[in-house]
Amino acid sequence: MTCSRVIGTGSYLPEKILTNSDLERMVDTNDEWIRSRTGICERRIAADDQFTCDLAEQASLRAIEAAGIKNTDIDLIIVATTTADQVFPSTACLLQHRLGIEGPPAFDVQAVCAGFMFALDVADKFIRTGSARCALVVGAETFSRIIDWTDRRTCILFGDGAGAVILKADNSPGILSTHIHSDGKYKDLLCVPVGVSKNYNLVQQGKAYTTMEGGEVFRWAVTAMSDIIEEALVANNMDKEQIDWLVPHQANIRIINAVGKRAKIPSEKVVITVNRHGNTSAASVPLALDEAVRDGRIVSGQYILLEGFGGGFSWGSALIKM
Ligand code: UT7
Repeated sequence: MTCSRVIGTGSYLPEKILTNSDLERMVDTNDEWIRSRTGICERRIAADDQFTCDLAEQASLRAIEAAGIKNTDIDLIIVATTTADQVFPSTACLLQHRLGIEGPPAFDVQAVCAGFMFALDVADKFIRTGSARCALVVGAETFSRIIDWTDRRTCILFGDGAGAVILKADNSPGILSTHIHSDGKYKDLLCVPVGVSKNYNLVQQGKAYTTMEGGEVFRWAVTAMSDIIEEALVANNMDKEQIDWLVPHQANIRIINAVGKRAKIPSEKVVITVNRHGNTSAASVPLALDEAVRDGRIVSGQYILLEGFGGGFSWGSALIKM
């Protein structure tokens, strides 16, 4: 049976660092509140002339180099993003052109902070069904562009960045399972309530901002991210002790700690980047994965559980043997 393996990872963070003390000068907040309520110390912000595709391109080039493949070996490109460069073409098509690839399918998926899990799920299915043999899967965001920088409830949380993986067809997994879920009845708890088709005048006025019922999102995130760990373990007939690393969506250290506690996964086995990256939405999981691969924590043969959660609500997991 054909499966997909992760053969390379890459990531990119914009140069500009926005610290908590910078935010103290912008809104009524303080470093102590942000650290203790979220675990975030700093986040990266894209330059004015830097767009999601620019971040995606850098992450992709690093993943391609790590995988030791040529750009033209790639026969599927999926970009998970909430902050596409343009209404169309997709950011994946823009990225495809940058990488000098012609012909194979390239498209975006939109599942906000769970987007990378959705993209991975789709790419894995393409490979399992023989429709692709070498996929580039990217999570990339310039989330800072949809933040109200006068709203202290949201502006302290988010940052920009990109992460990418190369998946290759193989006889042995690889990706052992993916599970993805959505429940649109929670659409109003975390959203940008304007777009091209609805309230476009607000977009034109530069008022396409993220709104969030923080407490309710927090509770839901803990429940959903704990439940999908169990779902992945049951599907693979595995125990939590067999998981070498949990790579959760990086939204809030208190969410990550609560999930680890409920799932009984010790904190030494959890990859944390939220302190330095903030919440980079669809980029958060592949960014954290790449960081732990490059610093040598994640190595070949280990079992890695990735999980994401975000607006929709949408959430998902992938259990991977590296
Ligand atoms: O990717 C998924 C997307 N999002 C998330 O996962 C976020 C989930 N939610 C959270 O992470 C947390 O709910 C927050 C970090 C957003 C908020 O933390 P909280 O512990 O739930 O605080 P809260 O909203 O209950 O606010 C507590 C107090 C309030 O003041 P009062 O009403 O008690 O006087 C807020 O007005 O803290 C105030 N507050 C702030 N104070 C200083 C809210 N934001 C700030 C701030 N600085 N930035």
